[in-house]
Amino acid sequence: MRLITCENYAEMSKAAGLMVAGQIALKPNSVLGLATGSTPEGLYAELSRMYANKDLDFSEVKTFNLDEYYPIDRANDQSYYYFMNQHLYSKVNLKAENVHIPNGSAANAEAECVAYDKLIDDNCGIDLQILGIGNNGHIAFNEPAGELSAGTHLVKLTENTIEANSRFFASADDVPRTALTSGMATIMKARKIILMVSGANKREPLAKLLAGKITTDCPVTMLSMHSDVTIIADKAAMGG
Ligand code: PGA
Repeated sequence: MRLITCENYAEMSKAAGLMVAGQIALKPNSVLGLATGSTPEGLYAELSRMYANKDLDFSEVKTFNLDEYYPIDRANDQSYYYFMNQHLYSKVNLKAENVHIPNGSAANAEAECVAYDKLIDDNCGIDLQILGIGNNGHIAFNEPAGELSAGTHLVKLTENTIEANSRFFASADDVPRTALTSGMATIMKARKIILMVSGANKREPLAKLLAGKITTDCPVTMLSMHSDVTIIADKAAMGG
């Protein structure tokens, strides 16, 4: 694992933006794995800026998002589809047919998960996966547990995650209780991973990852087993 420490959130976002831009420059038809949440918002602003400056072209890029609430309509302003559209899809020249996100309104969640993994495989897998971490150590919605799932699956969110995500909703009661999420194998099969970490509330899971011990109680620690992970962390996440 490579560790890049940045002064603050803005620098972290810039560093990640340059890496994603480098990936697209080297392989214009890259398959990107994307994440939602506060962490990658600055990255998407960087990518949008580079596109506006004509420094980046997304016309051949394909994207697969990690997760989506379930059930949720994509027009709902709390859906991850809505987030991605607002922060990236509507800002750059990604083609509509090239952006993918688990379908939160699929009638059959299980079939949707199987189809989603197949679609990633049919596109030859993910070249570069962007990840954030939950303050409980989750990646995507793979929550701390005795066992983790390999493939994309329907998951029950933990109270910790519902509480953390309630800041985006009118109240914690409005946060969906379940989600469709990429599994650990879906993530680990990505050829490269960039893990973005910002803020003091991420200190604990980051410290566990850097300690080099692996436990399903802190899913991000699994990244120690991947051969190409770059962690971009700000000073607050590193402990000041
Ligand atoms: P955040 O969420 O970026 O909003 O902190 C990260 C996550 O839960 O994976």
